[in-house]
Order: sequence, then C-alpha cells, then structure tokens
Amino acid sequence: MQKLITKSSGLNGQLKLPSDKSITHRALILAALTKGKTIVKSPLISEDTLTTMNALKPFGVVFNRLDNTAIEVISPGMDNFLRPDNLIINMGNSGTSTRLLTGVFAGLGIKVTLIGDDSLSKRPMARIITPLTKLGAIIESDANHLPMKIVKGIDKKAIDFLLPLGSAQVKNTMLLAGLSANVETIITDNFNTRNHTEKMLPEFGIKIKNLGNNKFKILSNQHLKPTTINVASDISAAAFWLVGASIVKNSQVELKNVNINKTRAGILDALQKMNANIDIIKKTEKNEPAADFKIKSANLNNIQITEKEVPKMIDELPVIVLAATQATGKTIISGASELAVKETNRITVVTEQLNKLGADITATADGFIVKGPTPLFTKETVEVDGHGDHRIAMMLAIAALITNGKVMLKDPNSVKVSYPNFFYDLDKLVTN
Ligand code: S3P
Repeated sequence: MQKLITKSSGLNGQLKLPSDKSITHRALILAALTKGKTIVKSPLISEDTLTTMNALKPFGVVFNRLDNTAIEVISPGMDNFLRPDNLIINMGNSGTSTRLLTGVFAGLGIKVTLIGDDSLSKRPMARIITPLTKLGAIIESDANHLPMKIVKGIDKKAIDFLLPLGSAQVKNTMLLAGLSANVETIITDNFNTRNHTEKMLPEFGIKIKNLGNNKFKILSNQHLKPTTINVASDISAAAFWLVGASIVKNSQVELKNVNINKTRAGILDALQKMNANIDIIKKTEKNEPAADFKIKSANLNNIQITEKEVPKMIDELPVIVLAATQATGKTIISGASELAVKETNRITVVTEQLNKLGADITATADGFIVKGPTPLFTKETVEVDGHGDHRIAMMLAIAALITNGKVMLKDPNSVKVSYPNFFYDLDKLVTN
C-alpha cells in the first residue's frame, strides 16, 4: 500500500493527540501484576500496546475496554498468574513489550518463548539476556535475538544494577525482574533515561527510595495495590506537529495536554534552541507533568546535539533531523548510535530517504551531519519508504508537506504501531 502526500500551504488547527506509549505500556504491565481491578484512563490503543495486553492475557489477566477512554484491568495478581505449558507469545513489532515483559517473566520464573516480526527479530537482546543471566536466569535465544526462550527465572537475591547503556527498556527489564521476584532492587541510571515507572510505582503503593547519585532502591516484600492511572498525550506523537508546524509556512497548531516529563521532553529544548516559535502553557503538575503547546512557523537555526541529551529525545531524532534540513547552518548530532538498533537502522534510513528528497545529510556511526537549509523537491513523483518503521513513515509524511511535488509513502500502515490516527490528524490540519 502507498499514500500520496503533497505540498501544504499551512498546518492549522488543534489536535488531541494519542496518549503516551511508554506510560501506557507501564500502566498495563503494573496493573497486570496487581491483584484486583486497576483503571487505566486515556490509554494509548495501538498495535504496540495491544501486543502488551495480548501477551498478558494467557496468565489470567483480563482487559476490558470501558469506553473509548479507559481500560479496566482485572488480574489474579502476579503470584497467582496461570502458567500455561509451552506458551509462545508473539511480540509483533514491540521492543518495549518484549524487554519489559522479559523482566517480568524472568522475575516470576515463567517459562515462555517470545517471537516477533522481522524487525523485532533483528533487535539486540544481549543487553537484557546478559544481566538476567548473571542473576541466575537461563534464556535461550537465536544468537541474542528472538526467538527467545525463558527456561529458568532469576534467583531470589537482591539486585544491584548499574545501567551500562542509555536504554530505559533495559533499566525497566531489571526493575521489573526485581519487582516480580519480590527482591530488593537498586538501580543506577547515569543516563537519566525516562523515569515513568519510577514515577508510577508509588501510585501502586510501592515505595521507591531515591538514594541520590542517579540511584534508587525498591525494597523487597511490597505489594502492589490497585489504582487509577491517567495517561497524558505522547510527546513523541506531538513531535511530528512541533516540527511540522515549525517548517510548513503559515502554520499555527495547538496541541493539548502533552506529557512533558523532563526525561522525555528534549525535543522542546532542541527546537527552542533552534529558534522555533512554541508557547508552552504548563498545567498543574500531578505525578507526570503536562502542557498545552501553541506552535507557529519559524525560521530555524542549526543545533548541536550530543550524547548526554540523546536519551531524552531518542525517538524524536528522526523528525529533528528533518527540522535540521530546514535550519540555517550545520547541525551535528552525535552520541546517538542507539538509533541504529531501533525498529530500523534509523541513521541510515533517515539519511537515505531524506536525501532522496534533496536533503544534505551525512550519516555517521553515531548520528548525523545535516547542512541546511535545503529545499526539499521531487521530480514528478518520488517514492519514500519508512521500511515499516512507524516513526520514519510519519517523519517522511511531514517532509512531503514541504516538497514541491508528489511524494508516495510506502507502507503508511506502520503508523498503527504508535499513532493509528496520524493520517486523519494530518488531513485535519492540512484542510483547516
Ligand atoms: C522506550 C524506551 C526507548 C524508546 C522506545 C520506548 C520505553 O527505547 O526508544 O520507543 O518505553 O522504555 P530504549 O530504552 O531502548 O532506548
């Protein structure tokens, strides 16, 4: 399937964006571990979060859609999970479901085989297999790739884990392994990766101690209590309109109630440094902070992004590269080698596809050098291909809006992974 996207003379209007994917995964998983009934309000319903729910159903967890705005999660609790024999779970495209739930299964000693689609089967799992194995788990895999079989869980001993790379997924694998095994768990995260689970645990009645120096501790023998979790909109979805409204002339877009947790909101700092015109109206801060945004078109400047800033904008880097193609000067993004092991190798795919449209991007081992501004153009019709990667497909759709011709986007359905209504929202802003 293909989708034709042409030049836009301005993005205008207001959107209610999809809810945060990371927070929804965490809320569903913690709810499933909790005995009783938890309500997740405004969850993201997308292919990835459905993967998490489907993966938890064989253990006796029930997910009821109350209406379009809430899910009721009824669980026997992790200690009473059903343990079906020879269970094989399909994790689809979802790295987050795979890594977080491997932590849960290894913590509970649940024997299960995990499989996934072609993209997921290429993604590295050594980063979770190695530390779990050190804790006594036995995990068989295809050279540290899916299919992956958990043969034995971790030993019931305290965990003291130093995160060796800037991956929130790996941090959460170990955190959830400790929580599910009910052992004292200390985690040191010097990369300041997204901290949604740490913020959510107290809502489930779990005490988490900040030990300073990027270290926190979860005591053993605590019991999760049912609760209600509210999920705000996803800054990773907002990213497409933050950049879209900045680079498409004559735009004015409003986005409502977007999560601005500082471990996630690096794109706001980056775009502001690039001279974007974004008003941020902060809401009363609950557990997770949120804000409304008003974005107008702007003439952007170049920026330097280095390793330290990467975790808080890791998923937004493809669309930040697009912004950089329209910015004056040379943008250098480094320290982002993790992009090479996402749903696609986002360093090479972003570079190849945007260069097809006339951008001047050089891929490096750990990022990009972007020379701007370059007008994006097409001779007749150009086909661009996100290679099945939802975030690349959406970034390319935004790029198409500033070309002078016709862009055919291959495989637009990949957006269902995180933003099922993306093209509906695009049509809404384009026609307003
Ligand atoms: C996620 C963490 C990030 C991110 C992914 C979601 C999460 O992956 O890219 O889309 O929910 O924890 P890494 O932690 O592996 O960088």
